[in-house]
Amino acid sequence: MTEALLDAKLPRLHTALPGPRAKEIVALDDRHISPSYTRSYPLVARRGRGAMIEDVDGNIFLDFAAGIAVVATGHCHPKVVEAIQRQAAELIHISGTDFYYSQMIELAEKLERVTPGREPKRVFYSNSGTEAVEAAIKLARYATGREKFIAFHGCFHGRTMGSLSLTASKSVQRKGFGSLLSGVFHIPYPNPYRCPFTGQAHDCGDDCIEHLEKVVFKKLVDPSDVAAIFVEPVQGEGGYVPAPAKFLRDLADLAARHGILLVADEVQSGMGRTGKWWASEHAGIEPDIICIAKGIASGMPLGAMIARASIMQWKPGAHASTFGGNPVCLASALATFDLLESGYIENARRVGAHLLNRMSAWPERFRVVGDVRGFGLMLGVEFITDRASRAPAHDLRDRVVERAFEKGLLVLGAGENTLRFCPPLVVDEEQADFAAGAIEQSIAEVERSA
Ligand SMILES: Cc1ncc(COP(=O)(O)O)c(C=O)c1O
Repeated sequence: MTEALLDAKLPRLHTALPGPRAKEIVALDDRHISPSYTRSYPLVARRGRGAMIEDVDGNIFLDFAAGIAVVATGHCHPKVVEAIQRQAAELIHISGTDFYYSQMIELAEKLERVTPGREPKRVFYSNSGTEAVEAAIKLARYATGREKFIAFHGCFHGRTMGSLSLTASKSVQRKGFGSLLSGVFHIPYPNPYRCPFTGQAHDCGDDCIEHLEKVVFKKLVDPSDVAAIFVEPVQGEGGYVPAPAKFLRDLADLAARHGILLVADEVQSGMGRTGKWWASEHAGIEPDIICIAKGIASGMPLGAMIARASIMQWKPGAHASTFGGNPVCLASALATFDLLESGYIENARRVGAHLLNRMSAWPERFRVVGDVRGFGLMLGVEFITDRASRAPAHDLRDRVVERAFEKGLLVLGAGENTLRFCPPLVVDEEQADFAAGAIEQSIAEVERSA
């Protein structure tokens, strides 16, 4: 770790971007690496510490992207690194599919303690978010004996063929891949800024429930054939849209009435990012199944599917994974869990509220900002071409993201026209203020040139 990186709380840039070494690596990447990745700007990372990233030319950036909402405890938290190193020296792999080790249980007990609902839970470990969703798809079918699913427009649940069948975020993610799982019905996701039915801003959600009951259940699929409804309590890749609490409660009631399992995909919103362990808690719902990944192990590949014990009753061999929940990833997750519980979730709530408070002036201040929203450190800024039409301003959002990079701030887009803040949960108010200031300047510059 360089001294400069250890000391830095804010960006320090000393080359034009990209720097010379970064340029070389981007050119090589262009030649050797799958072109399916979606890089927005040429950051070539070398080291990370806390909320800071040093690139290969020694430039230091403030990271409000966190490896797509992953490094919850910051980059290379010393306690996480120590836990990984200790475990790696002792046992890297044995496979929980065939053998036992105590870390699987330790993390399961912790997760069970903090997941909503009093019924005992069981945990299945995967390597990623998409695999946690695949596991939920299979368990929902197995447990209910039903085959169909409900998911939402704009939702993102992963890119493997099962989870991709639920994903309805961008057509490029599906194009060219042939038939997906049959029996998935997509319905509108409530968005109080632009209601999917009226296009207007208003309290939203009742229309979506009505559409499910009066259109989908009456004309397309009988609810008794539906195994599960998959919902992101805060839509992530679709544009950082929190579902209204009443809508989530109504959805949970409706699912329970029809014997349909409610699956909360908390891959992006979980593990404290919204200032509570789960975004579901903001609405007070108790999902039957919760899928998690991203923030669970501070960057080590781990996912989990947590279900009520009465649901997770499948037979040995029904589902398994060679690597899922390997000891090193679990050691990282255990250290991450303790750090989140002992302060970083509260930090996400406090610093997120501070940041949102400052952002709340943006729709008045900037004609291209339509909406700001979110919980904790899962915050979105929606860009529009003008207030009258509210047309999504995709290119403009991208230019703001690029300008932020030039100022040393790493952010990502979400959906068609939203910019997301999903920093490590360790950021403080000074860093949040820097990020807000950099985005304010970037918006002003882009507005002037528009
Ligand atoms: C809500 C949600 N579910 C599932 C996934 C898929 O996770 P992974 O990329 O780890 O497979 C993502 C990834 O962005 C996500 O945001």
